[in-house]
This record gives sequence, structure tokens and C-alpha cells, in this order.
Amino acid sequence: MGASAEMRGGALAPLTVVPQHVAIIMDGNGRWARERGLPRLEGHRAGTANIRRTVEACAEFGIKVLTLYAFSTENWKRPPAEVRGLFALLGEVIDRETEELHRNGAQIRHLGSLADIPESLAARVRHAVEYTRGNSRLVVNVAFNYGGRAEIVHAVQRVIEAGIPADQVTEELLASHLYTASLPDPDLVIRTAGEMRLSNFLLWQAAYAEYWSTPTYWPDFGPEHLHAALYAYGARQRRFGSL
Ligand code: FPP
Repeated sequence: MGASAEMRGGALAPLTVVPQHVAIIMDGNGRWARERGLPRLEGHRAGTANIRRTVEACAEFGIKVLTLYAFSTENWKRPPAEVRGLFALLGEVIDRETEELHRNGAQIRHLGSLADIPESLAARVRHAVEYTRGNSRLVVNVAFNYGGRAEIVHAVQRVIEAGIPADQVTEELLASHLYTASLPDPDLVIRTAGEMRLSNFLLWQAAYAEYWSTPTYWPDFGPEHLHAALYAYGARQRRFGSL
């Protein structure tokens, strides 16, 4: 499906190319809260509220896969109260959004490990993934307790456990053991709040992704910012190492 009448009717320029897979590093929740004199968790809450708007905008633009970086393996270093708060927010998002996402044909996938996650939350994640498994309009990957290096280590462990001989280990084989198995690689990685780092996100998959950064904090990132990223993407020449 193409852009909505509202998007076409606004000042947004038409997009000639739309990436299949967009991945977003949702950064700046803490700064958004601090600038308003609020606790950090209120920034994360506002960031959570922005997820539905972003998923809807992606569907409108015709994006097929959206990956959201919600909690990294490094985020465990934050104060325990913030970690617990982020876990609680994920539970709330799942409870609030799963049915609506399902009705709209979205498939929820989890990238990362559930091993250290409280069982009640892990069960809710597994249920959301199972419940939406048959949907294909838009895949929403939630990277939670995710790290790109840990993902590659996990994939190598699975290859070894499967007894696959070294001479059969190819890039395709390793990719098929990543959390993103069977999904296209991200074409575009967006980072909010002005940082210029990948922060251990999709290290393997983003090898040839285009990168776009905006100073806008994640809670304020709207469809117009997504459009700006997609527009910039359309103007890039992707050469994949050739001339
Ligand atoms: C970065 O902001 C954001 C995160 C570490 C978490 C992203 C989480 C959300 C958008 C809320 C949704 C959460 C879940 C779990 C679904 P930051 O805290 O690093 O911001 P700062 O750099 O301004 O301090």
C-alpha cells in the first residue's frame, strides 16, 4: 500500500524508493525527560507511546520490516530501577498493542535472548510472537535484551551444536542462524537524538545499510521525520561495494 491521503495531501514530497527494512535506534528518552524536569522513566513512557505512531507510519509508507532497538545487552548497566521500569513498559506495550497489531496484519518477532528476563514478561513476549506468527503485512522486530555481538556468538554456537562441518559454514548459513533468519537485511538504520553510533545493533545485518541520524529525541520522532529519512534514503546511491 502507498502513502495515505493525509500524507499525500501534506507537504511531504513523494517517495520514489521505499526501503523494505527500516531499523531504528530509539535514543533520547532520558534527555527528553530531563528537559521537562521529569524522571527518566517518563521519557521512556513517552517513547513507548511513540511506537504505535511509528508502526502505523511504516505501514502507510509501505515498509515491510521494522526493527526497534528497545533494550540492549549493555542496558543492564543502568540503575536497577530503570531496568525494571523498562521491563514493565515492555509488558505494558505488549498488553496494549498486540491485539491491534494483529488486527492490522503485523507479525511481532523478538530479537535477543529471553534467558535473563523475568518469566512473566518472557511468557508475554513468547505469546505475542506466537499469536501474530501468521501475519505478513508488516514484520515488527522488537530487539530486547539484544546485542549484535551476542547474536553472532549465539549463531556460531548453534552451528557448532548442529555439527555443521567448517567447510559448509557460509555467510548464508550463518545468517540463517541469526535472530533475523529469513528476513531481508535492513536497508536503512535511523538513530534519533543525534548520536552517530551503531551501539552493537544489527552488526551483521547492517553491513550495507544506509545510516540516517536526526537530533530529534525519540518521543518527538514523528511521521514527518520518518519521511525525511526515507527521502534521504531515496537520494542515496547504494553500490554494495561495486562501482
Ligand atoms: C534510549 O534513550 C532508549 C532506550 C534505552 C530504551 C528505548 C525504549 C523505549 C523507546 C521505550 C519502549 C521500551 C520498551 C521496552 C518497549 P536513553 O535513555 O539512552 O536516552 P538518553 O540518551 O537521552 O539518556
